[in-house]
Amino acid sequence: MQNAALRAAGLDCAYVAFRVAPDQLESALGGLRALGFVGANLTIPHKETGFRLMSETSDEAKSLGAVNTVVFTEERMVGHNTDVYGFLEPLRRDGVNLAGTRAVVLGAGGAARGVVYGLLREGADVTIVNRNRERAALLAESMASVLPNGSGPAAYGAGSSDAAEAVRKCELLVNATAAGMAPNVDDLPPVEPEWIGPDTMVADLIYRPPVTALMRIAQDKGCRTMNGLPMLVHQGAESLRLWLGIEPDLAAMEQAAAQALANS
Ligand SMILES: NC(=O)c1ccc[n+]([C@@H]2O[C@H](COP(=O)([O-])OP(=O)(O)OC[C@H]3O[C@@H](n4cnc5c(N)ncnc54)[C@H](OP(=O)(O)O)[C@@H]3O)[C@@H](O)[C@H]2O)c1
Repeated sequence: MQNAALRAAGLDCAYVAFRVAPDQLESALGGLRALGFVGANLTIPHKETGFRLMSETSDEAKSLGAVNTVVFTEERMVGHNTDVYGFLEPLRRDGVNLAGTRAVVLGAGGAARGVVYGLLREGADVTIVNRNRERAALLAESMASVLPNGSGPAAYGAGSSDAAEAVRKCELLVNATAAGMAPNVDDLPPVEPEWIGPDTMVADLIYRPPVTALMRIAQDKGCRTMNGLPMLVHQGAESLRLWLGIEPDLAAMEQAAAQALANS
């Protein structure tokens, strides 16, 4: 996906993946910088450790305590987080106005954290539902201090009557759990199909498979759905803007990503 964008921009650059052991991140980043790399993406499990290694971080990275994009400058390592942009931009392009929207986020892990933060920042009314209720409550509590005047989102455990009511009333349902991701394609996140109404938009962060069990249920009810591929593409495009100042060819990126997923 990134290399497709680099080719489309006519740049003599390459994007490569390295597997780095958790205790080697600092050396790896120092090495990349010494080798003249313009930057790097960090993914699981490096986003939080990476945050602590940066000399400077963006506001979003600070709010989430996590960095997914590193920009090397002469003197510094600057950490950004493009996951929030990646989640919000496809919704914006789809014409979704989040201000005042009743949204339920399923999940309370790293991805849910970025999603909840982005939704709150856009003025949505957010409820978190997670299998582990305590983890949902902790995420809600941490978000209350992130945003000015934030009272924090509501947080419920899976299967509770509060969770059912929140999903029934919501206009946007986001799956930020790993339930339904290949190879466990029949797994459903913590939501009962009968809770989902036809006017709810369902966004699943999963992109493998391209249509999840949750999305299939929602589509059968006539709901609008979106998978995780646009988020993947937009967070990556924003990284390219930060590293190179280019406007990436989004269509080329999406096509390359879809092709790579189909072949994997
Ligand atoms: N599209 C994108 O660009 C993008 C970006 C980031 C992540 N993602 C996707 O988002 C998902 C979550 O990633 P993450 O980084 O947040 O992972 P994580 O930090 O490990 O969190 C996993 C979350 O999924 C829940 N979960 C896992 N298996 C479940 C099951 N069988 N039933 C119910 N809940 C389950 C966990 O609930 P408990 O707390 O109860 O364990 C937790 O809330 C993954 O599928 C990942 O591929 C997509």
